[in-house]
Amino acid sequence: MLTDRRILLVIGGGIAAYKALDLIRRLRERGAHVRGILTRAGQEFVTPLSVGALCGGRAFTDLFDAESEFDVGHIRLARDTDLVVVAPATADLMAKMAGGHADDLASTVLLATDKPVLLAPAMNPRMWDNRATQRNVAQLAADGRRFVGPNEGEMAEANESGLGRMAEPLEIVAAIEGLFAKPAASGPLSGKHVLVTSGPTHEPIDPVRYIANRSSGKQGHAIASAAALAGARVTLISGPVNLPDPAGVRVVRVETAREMMQAVDRALPADIAIFAAAVADWGIDKPGAQKMKKDRVGPPQLPLSENPDILATIAGRKAARPGLVIGFAAETENVIDHAREKLRRKGCDWMVANDVSPQTGVMGGDRNTVHLVSEAGVESWPQQTKDAVARALISKIAAALV
Ligand code: C5P
Repeated sequence: MLTDRRILLVIGGGIAAYKALDLIRRLRERGAHVRGILTRAGQEFVTPLSVGALCGGRAFTDLFDAESEFDVGHIRLARDTDLVVVAPATADLMAKMAGGHADDLASTVLLATDKPVLLAPAMNPRMWDNRATQRNVAQLAADGRRFVGPNEGEMAEANESGLGRMAEPLEIVAAIEGLFAKPAASGPLSGKHVLVTSGPTHEPIDPVRYIANRSSGKQGHAIASAAALAGARVTLISGPVNLPDPAGVRVVRVETAREMMQAVDRALPADIAIFAAAVADWGIDKPGAQKMKKDRVGPPQLPLSENPDILATIAGRKAARPGLVIGFAAETENVIDHAREKLRRKGCDWMVANDVSPQTGVMGGDRNTVHLVSEAGVESWPQQTKDAVARALISKIAAALV
């Protein structure tokens, strides 16, 4: 329930704006008070009249509207709320936010607010993938803005699909409820900072191509979620994944291994670091600034250079090394032997080893069979869901701390 929670909804200009109307209804059904701001482009998709009618008040549109400035004023709009939600958050609105612009009511309120801001991005997949958008998303995440979606799926444009659909109203409601949920202050990891890496990395070849792997991020995200439920302050550094942000977790989105290394460095110090990401071992030396053309003599040679080994770097640190450093070893054969060797080579405290051969269905699937490898020996866990693996790992960590 969201009884008496005050939510300021900023509606940007995208076809997904129609879902913002349903979102208002869902929020009010749960007892929230909703105020609506429409950008100029937002008004091309839904009208202030419908937004006002659904909110049970008037919708706000203009920075220089004498009446609403007299009534409420943009600073009060920005502050007299518990949460600001931007849905749809367009590429343009996010660029303005990342740059600190304030040239209309929506951007001014977003700059003036001292309350948490949740963004539900919606745009064409190419606009989402554009490095400028990804830079802005990373900046906003680093500024503490929260995200829900975007999701994968059909676009409004014919024959277009990909990552860029706005999260569904009920997913946005769940994310809002997650933000308001009280952290489990008395959990076994309360007072601890847990850092988790998750998902694949994308190593660009040129502006449209990249090298990737099949990691879905499900296991890493489940661990971040379980750590938050155990009361920890959690920073999740995630490569490109198609998963909602876990509730109560600070999420930093990155694309490449180098960006992940930087984000990890910025997020430290931590008490516990869990490196569940499938980081690419190599990146392209000099990604092309333009799309590579086929009309050249034979296929291109792609010189690779080694990426930083994030786990080994952090585990090998003398200063500010997290007290417990945990790596993952995804193997397709001799799983435990390879994990033991990796534990020594990388200098971490525990290795979670799993068999990711195609027949196991682990990559992208919901279940996992893991072995916990440490100096103390090997513990083999039964096959279980990735959520259950996450909970079991967090319990192990909590037990090891006492
Ligand atoms: O060597 P391998 O990639 O199999 O090691 C897996 C472990 O190392 C995982 O915990 C992964 O997150 C971490 N790793 C890393 N940086 C890399 C490569 C792997 O943190 N560049």
